[in-house]
Amino acid sequence: MTSSDQDAVHHSTSARYGARYGTSSLPKYKIPSTGVDQETAYQIIHDELSLDGCPLLNLASFVQTWMPPIVDKLMLENISKNLIDQDEYPITQDIHTRCISILSELWHAPSHHHAVGTATTGSSEAIQLGGLAMKRIWQEKRKAAGKSIHEPGPNIVMGANAQVALEKFARYFDVEMRLVPVSVESKYRLDPKRAMQYVDENTIGVYVILGSTYTGHYEPVKEMADLLDEYEKETGHSVPIHVDGASGGFFAPFATPNLEWDFKIPRVVSINTSGHKFGLAYVGVGWVIWRSAKYLPKDLIFELHYLGSVEYSFSLNFSRPAHPIIAQYFNFLHLGFQGYRDVALADLKNARTLSRALEKTGFYTVLSDIHRPAGCPAGITAVTDHLGEDVKLYEPGLPVVAFRFSDEFQRKYPDVRQKWIQTLLRAKGWIVPNYDLAPDLNQVDILRVVVKENFTEALLDRLVCDIVEITEDLTKQDSSAHGLTTLGKHHGKLSSHEGAHGRVEAHEVEGGQKDSGTYAKPC
Ligand SMILES: Cc1ncc(COP(=O)(O)O)c(C=O)c1O
Repeated sequence: MTSSDQDAVHHSTSARYGARYGTSSLPKYKIPSTGVDQETAYQIIHDELSLDGCPLLNLASFVQTWMPPIVDKLMLENISKNLIDQDEYPITQDIHTRCISILSELWHAPSHHHAVGTATTGSSEAIQLGGLAMKRIWQEKRKAAGKSIHEPGPNIVMGANAQVALEKFARYFDVEMRLVPVSVESKYRLDPKRAMQYVDENTIGVYVILGSTYTGHYEPVKEMADLLDEYEKETGHSVPIHVDGASGGFFAPFATPNLEWDFKIPRVVSINTSGHKFGLAYVGVGWVIWRSAKYLPKDLIFELHYLGSVEYSFSLNFSRPAHPIIAQYFNFLHLGFQGYRDVALADLKNARTLSRALEKTGFYTVLSDIHRPAGCPAGITAVTDHLGEDVKLYEPGLPVVAFRFSDEFQRKYPDVRQKWIQTLLRAKGWIVPNYDLAPDLNQVDILRVVVKENFTEALLDRLVCDIVEITEDLTKQDSSAHGLTTLGKHHGKLSSHEGAHGRVEAHEVEGGQKDSGTYAKPC
């Protein structure tokens, strides 16, 4: 064969679907000695990723999975920009600054000109920064009073329903984590009175969560602040609050603007949120804002001199993509206050419909309260009537529906396991997690749906039909669904080899960590 014949053969085969990896195996864990053409690489990766869950049906996640298609264009145009290159991309910087100003104003900072903040990769990074600032301020106060910062060390107080990001702060930055047990009476979230038993002069702050990850309940920021005000009067110790508004920071201001939770409360020194949750931007953006520069100690801010000018950085990451911030700004401009409010109210309406539909089946009890009258007591299990459309009539909270088998259902069908619902829904494409509640209530497992913008009434209707059909099927003794005990044991495990590669295995973690019982499970 001449070399031009060989070229022709090569050309004809390389243009075939999947080219050489159509039949030979892919070197997955080491770099191939020679690469493949772009189309083939694309096709292989694209096809494999088709096995992922469908983001639209991912009702487990708070993270937004839809933006108007024109944002794809805007993001693609800016995909190669690095947010840290402030001198090179000054307009991107301006947009970043505008977003901080918009959020400061939305959260009632005493002066949105004086509030300081930054974009982060999400709430997790923002929470570390908020915690670090409180820790540093506590250290400065201790030093000024001639007291040790090591014996005893600092502690931070939060509900046992805390998301892993809050627990990470304590563990990564050497702060004792004081978890306040949650109960049905505390609506599965922080109980401020109980929290006060954990506060002392070494408490750097209290993390209060606006929108519990488990059930969507808002923690009572005002009540916590009032108790800390009294404590300060009695002891002279001022304990600040950082609000983890990962979801609620972008939800409460629009859905329930009169709710008191933000910088209007003087004790709230910092707030974080995830732009990629109810900020309605694609994944990759969070925010942290301090009520004024006074609460962000100067030695956490780095002055950078090597990118062409003097730049200031207070973040854990250096480089980060600029396009998620641009997408966030698009939402501010496009939706405005009313647009965000419309989305929030529609989410709540659908979440209420879902809650009532589930209750009416008699199979389920709903633990979240957003479909119940405002000010409802804890622990109601009765079916709730439709109260009308006015959001003010209802208990404020995130559009989250947390539910479990009703007591009656469990009595009647003791063999039916709730986690099978997750598995059977998954087989239909739905991603609805089933997991234990926070410590002290972890004998109870819940199913949870986060209602987002793209979970329309038509999808809701379909989901309810599927849940009812699956549950009814499980109650039938002759149902093939009972074979799930075995399936259940394997569910969630990745295929042996692929699942293990590059992951930390439990036996690899020396000593292991004691289970704090929170959302985070120890290795
Ligand atoms: C209450 C709470 N805090 C923090 C986080 C972490 O947010 P992110 O995923 O943006 O880092 C979450 C995520 O769900 C959350 O629900």
